[in-house]
Amino acid sequence: MDEKQSKKPVMLSGIKPSGELTLGSYLGAIRNWAERANDYDCYYFMADLHAITVRQNPADLRRRTLEQLAQYIACGLDPQKNTLFIQSHVHEHAELGWVLNCYAMFGELSRMTQFKDKAAKNAENINGGLFTYPSLMAADILLYQPDFVPVGEDQKQHVELTRDIANRFNGVYGETFKIPQPFIPKIGARVMSLVDPSKKMSKSEDEDPGRIILMDKPEDILRRFKRAVTDSEAQVRFDPETKPGISNLMTIYAAATGSSFAQIEAEFAGCGYGDFKRKVGEAVVELLRPIREESAKLIRDKAYLESVYRDGAQRASYIARRTLSKVYRKVGFVGL
Ligand code: TRP
Repeated sequence: MDEKQSKKPVMLSGIKPSGELTLGSYLGAIRNWAERANDYDCYYFMADLHAITVRQNPADLRRRTLEQLAQYIACGLDPQKNTLFIQSHVHEHAELGWVLNCYAMFGELSRMTQFKDKAAKNAENINGGLFTYPSLMAADILLYQPDFVPVGEDQKQHVELTRDIANRFNGVYGETFKIPQPFIPKIGARVMSLVDPSKKMSKSEDEDPGRIILMDKPEDILRRFKRAVTDSEAQVRFDPETKPGISNLMTIYAAATGSSFAQIEAEFAGCGYGDFKRKVGEAVVELLRPIREESAKLIRDKAYLESVYRDGAQRASYIARRTLSKVYRKVGFVGL
Protein backbone atom coordinates (compact mmCIF):
# COMPACT_ATOMS: atom_id res chain seq x y z
CA MET A 1 0.00 0.00 0.00
CA ASP A 2 1.16 3.48 -0.80
CA GLU A 3 2.18 5.59 2.19
CA LYS A 4 -0.15 8.35 1.07
CA GLN A 5 -3.13 6.06 1.40
CA SER A 6 -4.42 5.83 4.95
CA LYS A 7 -5.08 2.52 6.64
CA LYS A 8 -8.65 3.37 7.57
CA PRO A 9 -11.43 1.43 5.87
CA VAL A 10 -12.69 3.17 2.76
CA MET A 11 -16.31 4.25 2.15
CA LEU A 12 -17.71 5.60 -1.06
CA SER A 13 -21.09 6.72 -2.26
CA GLY A 14 -22.74 8.97 -4.80
CA ILE A 15 -26.01 10.75 -5.43
CA LYS A 16 -27.27 11.81 -8.84
CA PRO A 17 -27.86 15.54 -9.15
CA SER A 18 -31.04 14.83 -11.04
CA GLY A 19 -33.42 16.18 -8.42
CA GLU A 20 -33.47 18.06 -5.16
CA LEU A 21 -32.01 16.37 -2.09
CA THR A 22 -34.80 15.38 0.26
CA LEU A 23 -35.35 14.62 3.89
CA GLY A 24 -34.96 11.00 2.79
CA SER A 25 -31.52 11.69 1.28
CA TYR A 26 -30.45 13.34 4.53
CA LEU A 27 -31.84 10.84 7.05
CA GLY A 28 -31.20 7.78 4.93
CA ALA A 29 -27.77 8.68 3.69
CA ILE A 30 -25.92 11.93 4.16
CA ARG A 31 -26.35 12.26 7.90
CA ASN A 32 -24.93 8.80 8.46
CA TRP A 33 -22.03 9.58 6.18
CA ALA A 34 -21.11 12.70 8.13
CA GLU A 35 -20.69 10.70 11.32
CA ARG A 36 -18.09 8.41 9.83
CA ALA A 37 -15.51 10.93 8.74
CA ASN A 38 -13.10 10.16 11.57
CA ASP A 39 -13.14 6.40 11.30
CA TYR A 40 -13.22 5.93 7.55
CA ASP A 41 -11.55 7.34 4.51
CA CYS A 42 -14.65 8.70 2.77
CA TYR A 43 -15.37 9.59 -0.85
CA TYR A 44 -18.67 11.17 -1.90
CA PHE A 45 -19.48 12.45 -5.32
CA MET A 46 -22.15 14.06 -7.46
CA ALA A 47 -22.99 11.43 -10.08
CA ASP A 48 -23.50 13.79 -13.00
CA LEU A 49 -22.49 11.15 -15.58
CA HIS A 50 -25.30 8.98 -14.29
CA ALA A 51 -27.75 11.89 -14.27
CA ILE A 52 -27.68 12.22 -18.07
CA THR A 53 -29.07 8.72 -18.57
CA VAL A 54 -32.33 10.63 -18.27
CA ARG A 55 -32.65 13.85 -20.28
CA GLN A 56 -31.56 16.87 -18.21
CA ASN A 57 -31.82 20.56 -18.77
CA PRO A 58 -28.12 21.63 -18.87
CA ALA A 59 -28.52 24.78 -16.78
CA ASP A 60 -30.49 22.89 -14.15
CA LEU A 61 -27.97 20.06 -14.05
CA ARG A 62 -25.11 22.51 -13.51
CA ARG A 63 -26.99 24.43 -10.82
CA ARG A 64 -28.12 21.30 -9.00
CA THR A 65 -24.64 19.78 -9.02
CA LEU A 66 -23.26 22.83 -7.22
CA GLU A 67 -26.26 23.06 -4.91
CA GLN A 68 -25.82 19.45 -4.03
CA LEU A 69 -22.21 20.05 -3.10
CA ALA A 70 -23.25 23.02 -0.94
CA GLN A 71 -25.92 20.89 0.69
CA TYR A 72 -23.52 18.01 1.36
CA ILE A 73 -21.31 20.43 3.24
CA ALA A 74 -24.26 22.01 5.05
CA CYS A 75 -25.38 18.53 6.11
CA GLY A 76 -22.08 18.08 7.90
CA LEU A 77 -19.75 16.56 5.33
CA ASP A 78 -16.58 18.43 6.14
CA PRO A 79 -14.50 18.79 2.94
CA GLN A 80 -11.31 18.63 4.98
CA LYS A 81 -12.22 15.22 6.30
CA ASN A 82 -14.09 13.79 3.30
CA THR A 83 -13.19 13.75 -0.36
CA LEU A 84 -16.08 15.52 -2.11
CA PHE A 85 -15.98 15.63 -5.87
CA ILE A 86 -17.92 15.76 -9.12
CA GLN A 87 -17.91 12.47 -11.03
CA SER A 88 -17.24 13.97 -14.49
CA HIS A 89 -14.10 15.71 -13.15
CA VAL A 90 -12.42 12.35 -12.66
CA HIS A 91 -12.30 10.90 -16.16
CA GLU A 92 -11.23 7.48 -14.89
CA HIS A 93 -14.89 6.79 -14.05
CA ALA A 94 -15.94 6.85 -17.68
CA GLU A 95 -12.84 4.93 -18.73
CA LEU A 96 -13.17 2.11 -16.24
CA GLY A 97 -16.91 2.14 -16.94
CA TRP A 98 -16.14 1.21 -20.53
CA VAL A 99 -13.83 -1.62 -19.54
CA LEU A 100 -16.33 -3.03 -17.06
CA ASN A 101 -19.05 -2.91 -19.69
CA CYS A 102 -17.06 -5.63 -21.37
CA TYR A 103 -17.32 -7.78 -18.23
CA ALA A 104 -21.00 -7.14 -17.48
CA MET A 105 -23.38 -9.50 -19.20
CA PHE A 106 -26.42 -8.51 -21.21
CA GLY A 107 -28.56 -10.85 -19.10
CA GLU A 108 -27.30 -9.38 -15.83
CA LEU A 109 -27.92 -5.82 -16.95
CA SER A 110 -31.38 -6.79 -18.21
CA ARG A 111 -32.32 -8.09 -14.78
CA MET A 112 -31.66 -4.84 -12.92
CA THR A 113 -34.92 -3.64 -11.43
CA GLN A 114 -33.91 0.01 -11.67
CA PHE A 115 -33.37 -0.41 -15.41
CA LYS A 116 -36.74 -2.09 -15.81
CA ASP A 117 -38.47 0.65 -13.81
CA LYS A 118 -36.75 3.48 -15.64
CA ALA A 119 -37.29 1.91 -19.04
CA ALA A 120 -40.99 1.67 -18.23
CA LYS A 121 -41.07 5.32 -17.12
CA ASN A 122 -39.00 6.68 -20.03
CA ALA A 123 -40.29 4.55 -22.87
CA GLU A 124 -39.29 7.24 -25.40
CA ASN A 125 -35.67 7.33 -24.23
CA ILE A 126 -34.42 3.85 -23.33
CA ASN A 127 -30.84 4.68 -24.21
CA GLY A 128 -27.66 2.63 -23.93
CA GLY A 129 -26.50 4.62 -20.92
CA LEU A 130 -29.59 3.67 -18.99
CA PHE A 131 -28.87 0.03 -19.73
CA THR A 132 -25.17 0.15 -18.83
CA TYR A 133 -25.69 2.43 -15.83
CA PRO A 134 -24.64 -0.39 -13.46
CA SER A 135 -21.22 -0.87 -15.12
CA LEU A 136 -20.47 2.82 -14.66
CA MET A 137 -21.60 2.53 -11.07
CA ALA A 138 -19.33 -0.50 -10.66
CA ALA A 139 -16.48 1.65 -11.97
CA ASP A 140 -17.34 4.46 -9.54
CA ILE A 141 -17.04 2.02 -6.73
CA LEU A 142 -14.15 -0.23 -7.74
CA LEU A 143 -11.79 2.63 -8.65
CA TYR A 144 -11.47 3.51 -4.95
CA GLN A 145 -11.19 -0.06 -3.61
CA PRO A 146 -13.74 0.68 -0.89
CA ASP A 147 -14.64 -1.66 1.95
CA PHE A 148 -18.19 -0.34 2.21
CA VAL A 149 -20.70 1.32 -0.07
CA PRO A 150 -23.48 3.01 1.89
CA VAL A 151 -26.61 2.94 -0.26
CA GLY A 152 -30.36 2.74 0.06
CA GLU A 153 -32.13 -0.57 -0.29
CA ASP A 154 -32.95 0.27 -3.93
CA GLN A 155 -29.26 0.32 -4.88
CA LYS A 156 -28.31 -2.96 -3.25
CA GLN A 157 -28.79 -4.90 -6.46
CA HIS A 158 -26.31 -2.60 -8.20
CA VAL A 159 -23.72 -3.14 -5.48
CA GLU A 160 -24.24 -6.89 -5.75
CA LEU A 161 -23.69 -6.71 -9.49
CA THR A 162 -20.54 -4.68 -8.79
CA ARG A 163 -19.29 -7.54 -6.63
CA ASP A 164 -20.06 -10.05 -9.36
CA ILE A 165 -18.22 -7.99 -11.96
CA ALA A 166 -15.25 -7.50 -9.62
CA ASN A 167 -15.08 -11.22 -8.84
CA ARG A 168 -15.30 -12.08 -12.51
CA PHE A 169 -12.49 -9.67 -13.38
CA ASN A 170 -10.34 -10.87 -10.47
CA GLY A 171 -10.99 -14.45 -11.55
CA VAL A 172 -9.61 -13.80 -15.02
CA TYR A 173 -6.74 -11.40 -14.25
CA GLY A 174 -5.85 -12.06 -10.61
CA GLU A 175 -6.53 -9.88 -7.58
CA THR A 176 -7.31 -6.41 -8.95
CA PHE A 177 -10.38 -5.10 -7.15
CA LYS A 178 -11.33 -5.24 -3.51
CA ILE A 179 -14.81 -6.76 -3.17
CA PRO A 180 -17.00 -4.10 -1.52
CA GLN A 181 -19.90 -4.65 0.87
CA PRO A 182 -23.18 -2.78 0.55
CA PHE A 183 -23.87 -0.92 3.79
CA ILE A 184 -27.50 -0.24 4.52
CA PRO A 185 -28.18 1.79 7.64
CA LYS A 186 -31.14 0.67 9.76
CA ILE A 187 -32.67 3.86 11.10
CA GLY A 188 -34.06 6.19 8.54
CA ALA A 189 -32.80 3.93 5.80
CA ARG A 190 -36.04 4.30 3.93
CA VAL A 191 -38.05 7.44 4.25
CA MET A 192 -41.21 6.97 2.25
CA SER A 193 -43.47 9.42 0.44
CA LEU A 194 -45.85 11.26 2.76
CA VAL A 195 -48.74 10.75 0.37
CA ASP A 196 -47.92 7.23 -0.82
CA PRO A 197 -45.97 5.41 1.89
CA SER A 198 -45.49 2.40 -0.37
CA LYS A 199 -43.05 4.51 -2.43
CA LYS A 200 -39.66 5.88 -1.46
CA MET A 201 -39.51 9.65 -0.96
CA SER A 202 -38.31 10.53 -4.43
CA LYS A 203 -35.81 13.19 -5.29
CA SER A 204 -36.48 13.23 -9.00
CA GLU A 205 -40.10 14.13 -9.33
CA ASP A 206 -41.01 17.78 -9.35
CA GLU A 207 -43.60 19.19 -7.07
CA ASP A 208 -44.45 15.95 -5.34
CA PRO A 209 -46.54 16.70 -2.24
CA GLY A 210 -45.18 13.51 -0.68
CA ARG A 211 -41.65 14.75 -0.32
CA ILE A 212 -39.76 17.28 1.74
CA ILE A 213 -36.71 18.83 0.13
CA LEU A 214 -33.85 20.20 2.20
CA MET A 215 -34.55 23.73 0.99
CA ASP A 216 -38.32 23.68 1.75
CA LYS A 217 -39.57 26.58 3.83
CA PRO A 218 -40.92 25.80 7.32
CA GLU A 219 -44.52 26.60 6.37
CA ASP A 220 -44.33 24.21 3.42
CA ILE A 221 -42.91 21.47 5.59
CA LEU A 222 -45.66 21.87 8.17
CA ARG A 223 -48.32 21.87 5.48
CA ARG A 224 -46.99 18.68 3.91
CA PHE A 225 -46.94 16.86 7.22
CA LYS A 226 -50.44 18.05 7.95
CA ARG A 227 -51.58 16.36 4.75
CA ALA A 228 -49.57 13.18 5.25
CA VAL A 229 -51.49 9.96 4.70
CA THR A 230 -52.31 7.99 7.85
CA ASP A 231 -54.94 5.30 8.55
CA SER A 232 -58.24 4.97 10.39
CA GLU A 233 -56.99 3.32 13.58
CA ALA A 234 -56.12 6.57 15.40
CA GLN A 235 -53.24 4.99 17.26
CA VAL A 236 -49.57 5.88 16.96
CA ARG A 237 -48.09 2.41 16.68
CA PHE A 238 -45.23 1.05 14.59
CA ASP A 239 -46.44 -1.51 12.08
CA PRO A 240 -45.15 -0.94 8.55
CA GLU A 241 -47.36 -3.71 7.13
CA THR A 242 -50.76 -2.44 8.17
CA LYS A 243 -49.86 1.16 9.12
CA PRO A 244 -47.32 2.29 6.51
CA GLY A 245 -48.15 6.01 6.82
CA ILE A 246 -47.90 6.22 10.59
CA SER A 247 -44.83 3.97 10.63
CA ASN A 248 -43.13 6.25 8.12
CA LEU A 249 -43.90 9.29 10.26
CA MET A 250 -42.55 7.44 13.28
CA THR A 251 -39.38 6.59 11.39
CA ILE A 252 -38.94 10.25 10.51
CA TYR A 253 -39.67 11.40 14.06
CA ALA A 254 -37.31 8.80 15.51
CA ALA A 255 -34.53 9.88 13.17
CA ALA A 256 -35.16 13.59 13.84
CA THR A 257 -35.39 13.37 17.63
CA GLY A 258 -33.40 10.26 18.52
CA SER A 259 -36.43 8.72 20.29
CA SER A 260 -37.11 4.99 20.01
CA PHE A 261 -40.39 3.67 18.59
CA ALA A 262 -41.47 2.61 22.09
CA GLN A 263 -40.82 6.13 23.40
CA ILE A 264 -42.79 7.63 20.53
CA GLU A 265 -45.72 5.29 21.14
CA ALA A 266 -45.70 6.30 24.80
CA GLU A 267 -45.34 10.02 24.00
CA PHE A 268 -48.36 9.98 21.70
CA ALA A 269 -50.57 7.45 23.51
CA GLY A 270 -54.11 8.78 23.37
CA CYS A 271 -53.13 11.63 21.06
CA GLY A 272 -54.89 12.32 17.76
CA TYR A 273 -53.04 12.00 14.47
CA GLY A 274 -53.36 15.77 13.95
CA ASP A 275 -51.16 16.48 16.98
CA PHE A 276 -48.72 13.77 16.04
CA LYS A 277 -48.32 15.05 12.49
CA ARG A 278 -47.78 18.61 13.74
CA LYS A 279 -45.09 17.42 16.15
CA VAL A 280 -43.32 15.48 13.41
CA GLY A 281 -43.51 18.52 11.12
CA GLU A 282 -42.06 20.78 13.81
CA ALA A 283 -39.24 18.36 14.54
CA VAL A 284 -38.36 18.27 10.83
CA VAL A 285 -38.48 22.07 10.55
CA GLU A 286 -35.92 22.36 13.35
CA LEU A 287 -33.81 19.56 11.95
CA LEU A 288 -33.57 21.18 8.52
CA ARG A 289 -33.38 24.84 9.53
CA PRO A 290 -29.60 25.04 10.02
CA ILE A 291 -29.02 22.99 6.86
CA ARG A 292 -31.17 25.27 4.74
CA GLU A 293 -29.52 28.40 6.10
CA GLU A 294 -25.99 27.10 5.70
CA SER A 295 -26.68 25.80 2.16
CA ALA A 296 -28.06 29.17 1.11
CA LYS A 297 -24.90 30.84 2.39
CA LEU A 298 -22.53 28.37 0.72
CA ILE A 299 -24.22 28.45 -2.67
CA ARG A 300 -23.43 32.15 -2.91
CA ASP A 301 -19.76 31.49 -2.26
CA LYS A 302 -18.76 30.18 -5.71
CA ALA A 303 -15.04 30.54 -5.05
CA TYR A 304 -15.24 28.38 -1.97
CA LEU A 305 -17.25 25.67 -3.72
CA GLU A 306 -14.79 25.68 -6.57
CA SER A 307 -11.88 25.21 -4.20
CA VAL A 308 -13.69 22.24 -2.64
CA TYR A 309 -14.45 20.41 -5.87
CA ARG A 310 -11.03 21.10 -7.35
CA ASP A 311 -9.29 19.75 -4.31
CA GLY A 312 -11.71 16.79 -4.22
CA ALA A 313 -11.10 15.96 -7.87
CA GLN A 314 -7.38 16.02 -7.32
CA ARG A 315 -7.52 13.69 -4.33
CA ALA A 316 -9.97 11.34 -6.05
CA SER A 317 -7.94 11.23 -9.28
CA TYR A 318 -4.84 10.23 -7.43
CA ILE A 319 -6.48 7.00 -6.26
CA ALA A 320 -8.58 6.44 -9.39
CA ARG A 321 -5.56 6.71 -11.66
CA ARG A 322 -3.71 3.94 -9.89
CA THR A 323 -6.60 1.49 -10.14
CA LEU A 324 -7.23 2.33 -13.78
CA SER A 325 -3.60 1.86 -14.81
CA LYS A 326 -3.51 -1.49 -13.07
CA VAL A 327 -6.64 -2.53 -15.00
CA TYR A 328 -5.25 -1.29 -18.32
CA ARG A 329 -2.08 -3.26 -17.73
CA LYS A 330 -3.96 -6.44 -16.80
CA VAL A 331 -6.26 -6.42 -19.81
CA GLY A 332 -3.28 -5.96 -22.14
CA PHE A 333 -3.30 -2.31 -23.19
CA VAL A 334 0.08 -0.91 -24.26
CA GLY A 335 1.31 1.54 -21.66
CA LEU A 336 2.08 5.12 -22.67
N1 TRP B 1 -27.10 4.85 -8.55
C1 TRP B 1 -27.06 5.63 -7.34
C2 TRP B 1 -28.47 6.18 -7.07
O1 TRP B 1 -29.27 6.27 -7.98
C3 TRP B 1 -26.08 6.76 -7.44
C4 TRP B 1 -24.69 6.25 -7.63
C5 TRP B 1 -23.92 6.35 -8.75
C6 TRP B 1 -23.90 5.57 -6.67
N2 TRP B 1 -22.71 5.79 -8.56
C7 TRP B 1 -22.66 5.29 -7.30
C8 TRP B 1 -24.11 5.16 -5.35
C9 TRP B 1 -21.65 4.61 -6.63
C10 TRP B 1 -23.10 4.48 -4.70
C11 TRP B 1 -21.88 4.20 -5.33
O2 TRP B 1 -28.75 6.54 -5.96
